[in-house]
Amino acid sequence: MTTLHDKVPQGLDRKEAEVYRHLDPARLPRHIAIIMDGNGRWARRRHMPRVAGHRAGVAAVRSTVETAARIHIPALTLYAFSEENWKRRPTSEVGFLMSLLSRYLKAEVPTLNKNNIRLEYIGRQHELPATVQERMAWAREATARNSGMVLTLALNYSARSELVDAFRSMVDAASQNGGIDHLRIDEDLVSQHLYTRHLPDPDLVVRTSGEMRLSNFLLWQLAYAEIYVTPTLWPDFRGVHLLEGIAEYQKRERRYGGLNHNDAHAPVGTIKA
Ligand code: FPP
Repeated sequence: MTTLHDKVPQGLDRKEAEVYRHLDPARLPRHIAIIMDGNGRWARRRHMPRVAGHRAGVAAVRSTVETAARIHIPALTLYAFSEENWKRRPTSEVGFLMSLLSRYLKAEVPTLNKNNIRLEYIGRQHELPATVQERMAWAREATARNSGMVLTLALNYSARSELVDAFRSMVDAASQNGGIDHLRIDEDLVSQHLYTRHLPDPDLVVRTSGEMRLSNFLLWQLAYAEIYVTPTLWPDFRGVHLLEGIAEYQKRERRYGGLNHNDAHAPVGTIKA
């Protein structure tokens, strides 16, 4: 007989294993998206500069990515920098985030390969500094042959820009293929022109630091996602917190606009006008 303990994947620490034992491995989310938030507050509480929070956030990225891969989540997407971040933050902070990303990519490729993780990006990459784009292309190529989890970093990302780019791309494709009169737009076509065409829609979106917003993240793709908000600030977030989010997700009943099980099987009844 299989004991619960036998099911725990290798590499989980004691706390992670404890939470994992209560999960149903057959109902893991296929795609988890995370809004990493609270780096600045984490630093402020320690009387440190904001960038110290971003630096500490890298350990949270590492732990979350490794745990997700170990439990065989097929896709993980991290909202690293929004388009708005560029416009609304001091140049020095943006510069720091760029160099942090470059260093992360260089340092992390061996670990990504060890965990069979393939790296992808979404967002307007061409607007990023050339050196960062080169490092991104290098890291993607270095992990391109991995067949496990797809780790997608949202960089210079905005969901509204993504939709604008998708509509432009549909019109461009149509004009090269029979003309605009032949363009038939439906949900599948829009999905095929999004940056996320390589991914299923997220089943679960996690936001750290207690904020209840989507902040222009994957607005089309999150239509039916379960939302999990944790008060934990991003630099304190670890694999165990991801597993807690998955446990909460597994308690939810996903209805996609339908009825719950009890209501679906109850008599409809009549209503007097
Ligand atoms: C939000 O915190 C976080 C960011 C804008 C940057 C996210 C970057 C990292 C987690 C580190 C590097 C990432 C990678 C992929 C290497 P905030 O600054 O908005 O926090 P606040 O709301 O408390 O001010």
